[in-house]
Amino acid sequence: MIDDLSVSAVKTSEGPEGITVLVVDDERSNVESLEKIFLKENMRVLVANDAKHALEQVRSHRVHVVLTDLMMPGTTGLELLRAIKQVQSDVEVVLMTAYGSVEAAVSAMREGAYDFVEKPLKRVTIVKSVRKAAERGRLLEENRSLKDEIKALTKREMVGSSVPWRRVIEVATQAAPSTATVLVLGESGTGKELIARYIHDKSARARGAFVAVNCAAIPETILESELFGHERGAFTGAVTKKDGRFAKATAGTLFLDEIGELSPQVQVKLLRVLQEGEYEPLGGNTVKADVRVVAATNRDLLAEVQAGRFREDLYYRLNVIAVTAPPLRARREDVPLLVDHFVGLYAKKNGKARLVVARAALDRMLDYAWPGNVRELENVIERAVVLSRGDTLTEQDLPDQIAKAPASAPRSIDFTVGTPLEEIELRVIKETLKHTKGDKSLAAQLLGISTRTVYRKLDGVDGSFEGAGDPAKPSA
Ligand SMILES: Nc1ncnc2c1ncn2[C@@H]1O[C@H](COP(=O)(O)OP(=O)(O)OP(=O)(O)O)[C@@H](O)[C@H]1O
Ligand SMILES: [Mg+2]
Repeated sequence: MIDDLSVSAVKTSEGPEGITVLVVDDERSNVESLEKIFLKENMRVLVANDAKHALEQVRSHRVHVVLTDLMMPGTTGLELLRAIKQVQSDVEVVLMTAYGSVEAAVSAMREGAYDFVEKPLKRVTIVKSVRKAAERGRLLEENRSLKDEIKALTKREMVGSSVPWRRVIEVATQAAPSTATVLVLGESGTGKELIARYIHDKSARARGAFVAVNCAAIPETILESELFGHERGAFTGAVTKKDGRFAKATAGTLFLDEIGELSPQVQVKLLRVLQEGEYEPLGGNTVKADVRVVAATNRDLLAEVQAGRFREDLYYRLNVIAVTAPPLRARREDVPLLVDHFVGLYAKKNGKARLVVARAALDRMLDYAWPGNVRELENVIERAVVLSRGDTLTEQDLPDQIAKAPASAPRSIDFTVGTPLEEIELRVIKETLKHTKGDKSLAAQLLGISTRTVYRKLDGVDGSFEGAGDPAKPSA
């Protein structure tokens, strides 16, 4: 049946080409000749004489291309095709059809078969078709992983243009290339983990792993072995040797979240790794650590030191470079940008059209204090996008505590230590103006300055400083 049977291949089970092909035919002689052909092409070959065995092969191996007969007793190649796609959707299928059954082949193509070859089979034709099918599968796979990568990147976007946030990016960018330990401080939900990932992505270790450990979520008794690993038999229950997170983060970054929760015992061990660059797995010998540590906490770590709960020497070791994530209420001008970002993100995730944010809804969000910071804002937007019926996000889509907040409740302004006085002055004037609904003489009265001074200060504003007094509406 096959024109060239003069093959004398040694059966390789590995297939150096990296292509695995499954040959399905009820005619044994056919299967054997095809097996020889593909082995000679340096492919890995699996065989099956019926649909049941073919499915077993697909279930237990990573198959790239299935070459199947269209007509077999019991099943058709078409049914097999459907079943295979159920098991491994990314397998490419090439059908072998008898002369004259082209119509059946065409409907198989509609069902997702890659190609069909007509019997009598020609060696070059089948090899070419199987190779092309494998190449297509490889491209699709590559495409998928690229898409995943892009998705991961966009998810990690650092949104914000306020002065405090720009400072965060500046410090993080400067810290990234060094191997210094970085301590990320900030309230819950301010983006500490996002900043840690940013530092990793911008560092020379970006190709290595980013391993995150939430020190508060792991019971104290197992945190040590979780971080440093253990040898077999190191303690009751240690039936096998296990690598710790330090080993897993080799050549990458280890993110130690909630570092304030570490027990004194683990604090000692961590100090030693940071100082000497080595550690001992439980019950094991000393190993070198090739890890950059980024730690985070929402606690006041210095107060913990003063209270005797956190080692002072460890504190200084961790605190080589500190990045403080400002609370959202200290950078309200970023609220519209974040709202816009999350509206887009969750519209896409939920397969909805992008919502327009009503001015009143945005005002409510600008007035709100956001005790849960960016995480809270993200949750509010996700909920609103999911619940909204129309094409506009209105006040009704917001939770009560935000929708019913008094329109211009007097509020406080937070500043990062070291904010230039000029900037503070401007922010105070703008916030006060917002509070007085734009009444400049009332604002001047409240601030204890003349109305003229208010005008003069505002006149000196170039467009680059976006005060909270006039938040830009997010573009729809
Ligand atoms: N500037 C930002 N731009 C875009 N998304 C942000 C920003 N800051 C935070 N987020 C998002 O807000 C959420 C909370 O951020 P993250 O988990 O980094 O905060 P955290 O400070 O580690 O919080 P916690 O203390 O609760 O662990 C994440 O989904 C993150 O992607
Ligand atoms: Mg976190």
